[in-house]
Parts: sequence; C-alpha cells; structure tokens
Amino acid sequence: MIVPPPRSRSSLRSASALLIAGCILAGCSRDDREARRQAAGPHPSLEALARVADAQAGSVAFRRCAACHPIAPGTPDLGGPNLFGIMGAPIGHHSDRFGYTAALQAVGGVWTPARMDAWMADPHAMVPRTTMNFDGVADPLIRADIIAYLQTRK
Ligand code: HEC
Repeated sequence: MIVPPPRSRSSLRSASALLIAGCILAGCSRDDREARRQAAGPHPSLEALARVADAQAGSVAFRRCAACHPIAPGTPDLGGPNLFGIMGAPIGHHSDRFGYTAALQAVGGVWTPARMDAWMADPHAMVPRTTMNFDGVADPLIRADIIAYLQTRK
C-alpha cells in the first residue's frame, strides 16, 4: 500500500475544498456534466439519466428552445407554444391559442419523459409533418437535463 506523504494529502484536501467552494459560488451544474455522465454508466437508460439529471443545467440548455418557446405562466405563445406545465399535458393540445399542425394534434397521449426525449432527439422522426423546425438535441444527458427543468416549470 502506498501512503501519500502528509503534504500531498493536505493539498488534496485543499483542492476538494476549492472545488466545493467553487460549486457553492458558481454552481456545479455547468462543469460537472462529464462527472454526471460517468455516474450514469455506459449506455444509460432514461431512468439512469434522470437520476443524474440537473434542472439548473437544463434551464441553461433550454435557451436553445426559448427562441420559440416561452415558459412563464400566462405568457403568450411565440413561434412555438408556451411550455409552462408541459410535462404530463396532452400532446399538441397544451395551448388553447397556438395553431398546432394536424400531425402533432393527432399523436395522442401525454408528454411523458420518454416521449419528450424522443421529440427533442429528432422532432421530425417522431412527427414527420411537424413544423417544429429544430435539428434536435443530440446529447441524451442534455435532453435529460431539459426534461428535469421542464418538470420544475409547473
Ligand atoms: C424554431 C422554433 C422552435 C424551437 C427552437 C423549438 N421549438 Fe418546440 N415547437 C415549435 C413549434 C412551431 C411547435 C408546434 C409544432 C407543430 O404544431 O407541429 C413546437 C412544439 C413543441 C412541443 C409540443 C407542445 C405541445 O403543446 O404539445 C414541445 C414539447 C416542444 N416544442 C419542445 C421544445 C423543446 C424542449 C425545444 C428545445 C430543445 C424546442 N421545442 C425548440 C418551435 C420550436
């Protein structure tokens, strides 16, 4: 067994103290995605990703959606419908005022994490005639972060 000399042990301690202080000051969410990815394990299921998902990181990632989607209660739709309360809501019927495509309205069911994941990965694969012209979010962990964020907006 290799016992580290006292000096390196204390520098290890101060390094982790710095890391914790940094998390408190700046928030870990932006920088710890790789650590969270490791924690989810190889080929993680949606459930495994949900366990390491971070709503705060998701709120940052949601900026790419916010160009089209407001997410504050009572805010008018933009290019896309308001997404406040979207998790668990009926697909293609959440906003009374938004002009959804017939294709999205015909999907049926409600927004579960699995369906939201599929939609964000590739909207046109899930609903070929949708007018959500968005390439999708390729990274499964970023999708899980956005889902965690959407779950807080209700
Ligand atoms: C370029 C604009 C645009 C961007 C960017 C965009 N969307 Fe959309 N979104 C739309 C439009 C338009 C629709 C309605 C599509 C239809 O009716 O077929 C829509 C529909 C949706 C719906 C269905 C809402 C309901 O009431 O059932 C969800 C959920 C959604 N978007 C989530 C997202 C998320 C999450 C992102 C970011 C990862 C995103 N969108 C990025 C334009 C956009």
